Amino acid sequence: MARVWVLALCVSTVIADTTTTIPDYFQTSFGPYAGGYETGRVPFLAQTNPALSAQPTYVPNGPLVTDIPVPDKPEGASIFSHMGNLSPYRPNADGFGVDEYALPYGSNITQIHMVHRHGSRYPTSKPGVVDRINGFIENGTVFTGNLSFLNSWTYQLGENELTVRGRQELFDSGILHYYNYGQLYNPGSNLIARTTTMVRMLQSAESFLYGFFGSKWTQNVTLEAIIDSTGFNNSMGGDQMCTNAGNGRGQTSGSATDQWKSIYLQDATLRFQNQSSGRSANWTVDDLNDVQSLCAYETSAFGYSPFCLLFTWDEWLGFEYTLDIQFYGNNGFASPVGRAIGLGFVEELIARLIQHLPDPPDDSIAFNTTLDDNNSTFPLNQTIYFDFSHDTEIFSMMTALGLSKFGKYLSPTELATNRSLVVSNITPFGGYFLFEVIKAPYPVLDQRPRNSSDSPYDTSGNSTSYVHMIMNQRTIPLGESIPDCGARDDGWCELQTFINFQQQNVDKANYNASCFGDYSTPGYGNITDGAIPNS
Ligand SMILES: *[C@@H]1O[C@H](CO)[C@@H](O)[C@H](O)[C@H]1NC(C)=O
Ligand SMILES: *[C@@H]1O[C@H](CO)[C@@H](O)[C@H](O)[C@H]1NC(C)=O
Ligand SMILES: *[C@@H]1O[C@H](CO)[C@@H](O)[C@H](O)[C@H]1NC(C)=O
Ligand SMILES: *[C@@H]1O[C@H](CO)[C@@H](O)[C@H](O)[C@H]1NC(C)=O
Ligand SMILES: *[C@@H]1O[C@H](CO)[C@@H](O)[C@H](O)[C@H]1NC(C)=O
Ligand SMILES: *[C@@H]1O[C@H](CO)[C@@H](O)[C@H](O)[C@H]1NC(C)=O
Ligand SMILES: *[C@@H]1O[C@H](CO)[C@@H](O)[C@H](O)[C@H]1NC(C)=O
Ligand SMILES: *[C@@H]1O[C@H](CO)[C@@H](O)[C@H](O)[C@H]1NC(C)=O
Ligand SMILES: *[C@@H]1O[C@H](CO)[C@@H](O)[C@H](O)[C@H]1NC(C)=O
Ligand SMILES: *[C@@H]1O[C@H](CO)[C@@H](O)[C@H](O)[C@H]1NC(C)=O
Ligand SMILES: *[C@@H]1O[C@H](CO)[C@@H](O)[C@H](O)[C@H]1NC(C)=O
Ligand SMILES: *[C@@H]1O[C@H](CO)[C@@H](O)[C@H](O)[C@H]1NC(C)=O
Repeated sequence: MARVWVLALCVSTVIADTTTTIPDYFQTSFGPYAGGYETGRVPFLAQTNPALSAQPTYVPNGPLVTDIPVPDKPEGASIFSHMGNLSPYRPNADGFGVDEYALPYGSNITQIHMVHRHGSRYPTSKPGVVDRINGFIENGTVFTGNLSFLNSWTYQLGENELTVRGRQELFDSGILHYYNYGQLYNPGSNLIARTTTMVRMLQSAESFLYGFFGSKWTQNVTLEAIIDSTGFNNSMGGDQMCTNAGNGRGQTSGSATDQWKSIYLQDATLRFQNQSSGRSANWTVDDLNDVQSLCAYETSAFGYSPFCLLFTWDEWLGFEYTLDIQFYGNNGFASPVGRAIGLGFVEELIARLIQHLPDPPDDSIAFNTTLDDNNSTFPLNQTIYFDFSHDTEIFSMMTALGLSKFGKYLSPTELATNRSLVVSNITPFGGYFLFEVIKAPYPVLDQRPRNSSDSPYDTSGNSTSYVHMIMNQRTIPLGESIPDCGARDDGWCELQTFINFQQQNVDKANYNASCFGDYSTPGYGNITDGAIPNS
């Protein structure tokens, strides 16, 4: 019986493949641009959990062992909040420097525009340290002390796919956003949500939509998959169409991250060398930085990783800062392609806000015109826009949006303690930003009244619309980056002011020169506005 059933399944698959009339962008099976992907070892945490803390943590639906007792860790803190783009999802506990307010009575949220990162995944390639460790062992190194487990360790991670935790992050986010915005969806309508063709991108969008709409989500949404591969135009994967992003010319962080790693990992390197006996192992700072990433990856894949015990609290803060420098120099205001990579989303956001198909100047087209010139693939009549993308791309979207709050110089020799640019808070796995469009009956006061019985409105004015930007559940103060928005204590910006500013951002990306110009990689810190300067 089982055999017959399998056969029938194969036949129907073949028929579906040969007779399909669905255009490529609405096909969400893994196709030719899915990229490589591989599943790793299946977890068995009940058997591998080391029960590190005296009191077990019976936390609902929190499978990962994250209460790692690293030396010098402040009470209540967690290294998993400091792993940059490898952090499992959690909101910024401190917020972004502005208070959160309830929507004033009488105002309505009329639209949301979201860009969501994929969830926790396996590495995109095997970290270099894996072959180094095997080489040390082949050369006769015997590991001692905290490193002893390495004598029998093997690499068992997969590649590129979501881990189960990643699926959970997106599913939970879909549920969170259904609670927050469910009524914006008109049950009779069909939405277009957009992701890319890569496996983790499809898996993430599907988990989110399942969380938001339930298991029959395909009745409510059509998922569009934009080709995510070198040379293709893709607003959710802007590096693929920007030559100087793909070839590395626009990435300025290398010398700076090397410098910083040699500082924050100096002690740890000596410690590792000291715990490698027999024939000594020549651990480098790059090896150790990779080892830190293995803690993040193994925990997400298996629930627990012994690599997490090998570093002090300050070394984790150092790891986090390395990633901040990297994003700043490769996708932020210190990169000549920082704005260009994210420009397509800005052009699309303007189009959606003014309900007019995107039409930037010919030398600044940062999306696929086949898709965006067509209202069946780029509709303008939605109240909910769900897009899915990658960490570096989302960071570049923030740059293209002109969020200069996250654009201040980061020293490669000294950890900048009060910085806003903390990748852990911006693009953790399963992170997102979204814009709420809010229609208020009158202008909302710049400073909300202290007394909750006082009106938050200037009732002498007219109905006014605003945008409220949220990143990982916390408000971004738009006025800190866009002076015309004003120093509002709710972080909002008047809608037309915001649109005007975004329209100016299209030129600031200097798209053609930045992406296709023939220049040598600028020194770290020489670029300050995310683009090759307009001459
Ligand atoms: C192993 O030893 C060889 C010969 O000394 C050396 O060239 C190689 O770099 C060593 N491998 C590692 C990973 O250190
Ligand atoms: C999804 O669409 C179905 C069919 O139109 C509808 O019955 C259902 O209510 C919709 N789901 C939500 C969450 O609105
Ligand atoms: C937008 O318009 C199309 C075509 O009329 C319709 O199928 C779709 O449901 C509409 N979307 C929304 C969100 O109303
Ligand atoms: C634009 O998207 C369409 C539909 O997926 C695809 O066939 C085409 O190759 C894309 N064009 C570019 C330049 O990426
Ligand atoms: C190396 O190990 C020895 C013996 O365990 C210890 O006394 C010494 O402090 C260690 N040195 C470093 C740099 O960790
Ligand atoms: C250790 O590795 C570094 C970087 O690969 C290299 O520069 C150095 O010469 C090596 N030292 C020894 C003792 O092999
Ligand atoms: C390594 O092991 C020693 C001895 O068990 C311990 O005191 C130390 O804190 C451990 N961790 C690190 C990061 O060295
Ligand atoms: C792809 O992007 C390039 C660079 O902006 C643009 O010249 C071209 O018209 C775009 N093609 C499509 C099909 O989007
Ligand atoms: C797309 O545009 C056509 C022509 O302007 C219009 O008839 C149709 O209703 C639109 N569909 C959507 C999905 O908005
Ligand atoms: C908010 O929505 C309610 C209910 O649809 C409506 O009566 C009210 O006029 C709306 N307010 C604004 C400012 O548009
Ligand atoms: C309110 O709108 C009316 C009509 O558009 C306009 O004449 C008036 O100046 C506006 N008032 C304010 C305070 O902007
Ligand atoms: C960085 O800027 C300085 C001063 O403008 C210039 O002298 C230097 O050549 C630049 N370095 C690089 C690598 O662009």
